[in-house]
Amino acid sequence: MSTTPNFLILAAVLLIAGCAHDDTRHPTHSAVAPGGPAAVEAERALALAEAGDAGRGKAAYAVCSACHQPSGLGKSDGSTPKLAGQHATVLIKQITDIRGDVRIVPTMHGFVRELRDPRDIADVAAYIEALCNPPGNGRYGLSDADARISEGRQLFARDCADCHRDTGQGDKAKGYPVLAGQHFRYLVRQMQDIRDGYRQAADPDMVKTIKKHGNDKLQSIAAYLASLETPGTACEPVRAGR
Ligand code: HEC
Ligand code: HEC
Repeated sequence: MSTTPNFLILAAVLLIAGCAHDDTRHPTHSAVAPGGPAAVEAERALALAEAGDAGRGKAAYAVCSACHQPSGLGKSDGSTPKLAGQHATVLIKQITDIRGDVRIVPTMHGFVRELRDPRDIADVAAYIEALCNPPGNGRYGLSDADARISEGRQLFARDCADCHRDTGQGDKAKGYPVLAGQHFRYLVRQMQDIRDGYRQAADPDMVKTIKKHGNDKLQSIAAYLASLETPGTACEPVRAGR
């Protein structure tokens, strides 16, 4: 591909991203893709069975990088999640859910539909998982940060660490997401969406656990998680053009 159309695609993506990120809140059941949840499950099983080739996935990631950044950092304001270092199993679950409208993300739907087949999905997931951990995630910045983080650490250890593991590193084999080092605001939004039924296909046991918590406690948990390190290799200080 020549550089001009590529640039135009990225520019268009950025424009859409800038205008539309608030449409992510939709009630629990909306249009499910033709074939329904069974087709989503089938596609997911095929993608999980692929080996995943990070080299091939790099090309497929170009379209994603307009929003999620070439580094995979996303945006520190929390509008777009950090993906770098997330377990491939988790990425495959989210990508197939979003492709099939089981999780409704209108701004992203068309872009994940461009991945051609389960192999493409596995490749892009392998690429993202292997990205080094970029610095600069959005954190909780108010003066009570220390107290929040310590409260959040305790709540997380009690209610969440069984699945997301002690330091929020998740579990690749079981498909539990990495939460450590994610943007504070993204975490708060997802927790509230999961609790309030706006994020589809969330783990039912987690929904029960999260429902106990008001916004204030969820903010403390998010402050703690955002203060941690994402697993994997830290990026070298200057890594422009990656
Ligand atoms: C137009 C901007 C945009 C593009 C392009 C885009 N995304 Fe996203 N993506 C988002 C936003 C915004 C969210 C968060 C949605 C929400 O708040 O629920 C997201 C969420 C995700 C998630 C879920 C992360 C999590 O922690 O649950 C994954 C995985 C993901 N994107 C992968 C991709 C891949 C792979 C591509 C390229 C094929 C891509 N995205 C392209 C904006 C974009
Ligand atoms: C029973 C296991 C389990 C427990 C307990 C659990 N979670 Fe989860 N969590 C999951 C799974 C599985 C997912 C992925 C769900 C999906 O498919 O959307 C997830 C996803 C999330 C996400 C979204 C991550 C992302 O990248 O989008 C957040 C935030 C989260 N959990 C926070 C919590 C918090 C906070 C607690 C404790 C109050 C908790 N979880 C307890 C299993 C669990």
